[in-house]
Amino acid sequence: MITLELDLGERSYPIFIGSGLLGQANLLRPYIKGKRVLIVSNEVVAPLYLSKVQDALGDLQCDVIVLPDGEHTKTLQTLSLIYDKLLEGRHERSSTLIALGGGVVGDITGFAAATYQRGVNFIQIPTTLLSQVDSSVGGKTGVNHPLGKNMIGAFYQPQCVLADTDVLASLPPRELRAGIAEVIKYGLIDNLPFLQWLENNIEALLAGDKDLLAEAVRVSCADKARIVAADEKEGGVRALLNLGHTFGHAIENGMGYGVWLHGEAVAIGMVMAADLSARLGYITWAEAARAKALIERAGLPVVPPAQMSAQDFLELMAFDKKVQGGKIRFILMKGLGTSVIESNIEASLLEQTLEAKEQLCQN
Ligand code: NAD
Ligand code: GLY
Repeated sequence: MITLELDLGERSYPIFIGSGLLGQANLLRPYIKGKRVLIVSNEVVAPLYLSKVQDALGDLQCDVIVLPDGEHTKTLQTLSLIYDKLLEGRHERSSTLIALGGGVVGDITGFAAATYQRGVNFIQIPTTLLSQVDSSVGGKTGVNHPLGKNMIGAFYQPQCVLADTDVLASLPPRELRAGIAEVIKYGLIDNLPFLQWLENNIEALLAGDKDLLAEAVRVSCADKARIVAADEKEGGVRALLNLGHTFGHAIENGMGYGVWLHGEAVAIGMVMAADLSARLGYITWAEAARAKALIERAGLPVVPPAQMSAQDFLELMAFDKKVQGGKIRFILMKGLGTSVIESNIEASLLEQTLEAKEQLCQN
């Protein structure tokens, strides 16, 4: 097992990564202060892993809520089901919430913990690659709104993150690929050696090589922990973690939540960001094509949905959380393995990217 630390002063916490961790009582117990927990999971994950976690909790009084599955359920209505369960069970402030699932369960549970009785402890047990490398770390919690992705939420840190890499074995291939998109993101943001490592290992990762996947989780979490420690509430550098997300969130919302997976939308978003970066002269067209090639080799989509027009993108991107003073801020590449935040993008260049579709990342 590897233990990383997210250093946030008195709110610091460990990230445990490794095989066979779900059933290890000694890992979770030190992070549960009261005698009661509520495990929040969903209808896909609970049958697979709930009993292991319950066994590890031993004699704690353990309630469970099993939510419906899917991005379209990441709503205030679903959140309310958790409040109902907590109140009906007379949970007090000393209770701990445990999120057992992917990013959807993790984001909703974290927000429930942030808001129930003004804040109770919670623990992240991420079960998708995407949630192990990204959403479980860093304390972004929340739900979607029909007008915008993740628009209602809070920064609220867990007590610990337990990423058991064994659970990745049951992940459908499409979900594994979606997680790889966020892994590639770390390479493109500020870790060129990792990008090269991914270029060398992408097929083995997709084939489910356990050691390589664990290494990808380790490097991704270490990169994310470093960036979040420097800028917890996204006043600056943390925005780089949103590479591809301005375009990607527009796709998720525009197509209907859950139609395109978050990681798939981010994959296309990164290709669009590479294209825009090349048009601005921040990277060469060869570098843009190299980024696109890796994303394509990962089996991820690289062309935006045909039914979304440039105007659709512009309207939806106006709801991005990075919008400041009405201006959309983009995360762009400046050389491969380096990224920057830019708000003064020439409209004609942005339109070229939005119109390019099949031609993205080609001169
Ligand atoms: P998800 O939670 O919907 O999980 C994907 C699918 O895999 C679901 O059907 C789920 O039930 C299933 N599943 C989960 N674990 C499984 C397992 N071990 N075996 C078999 N099936 C399993 O999606 P996701 O990709 O994990 O997360 C996407 C969400 O995360 C989005 O809502 C996105 O906005 C959010 N997100 C948040 C952050 C953050 O910082 N908070 C970062 C990135 C993404
Ligand atoms: N996933 C982006 C962030 O955590 O900031």
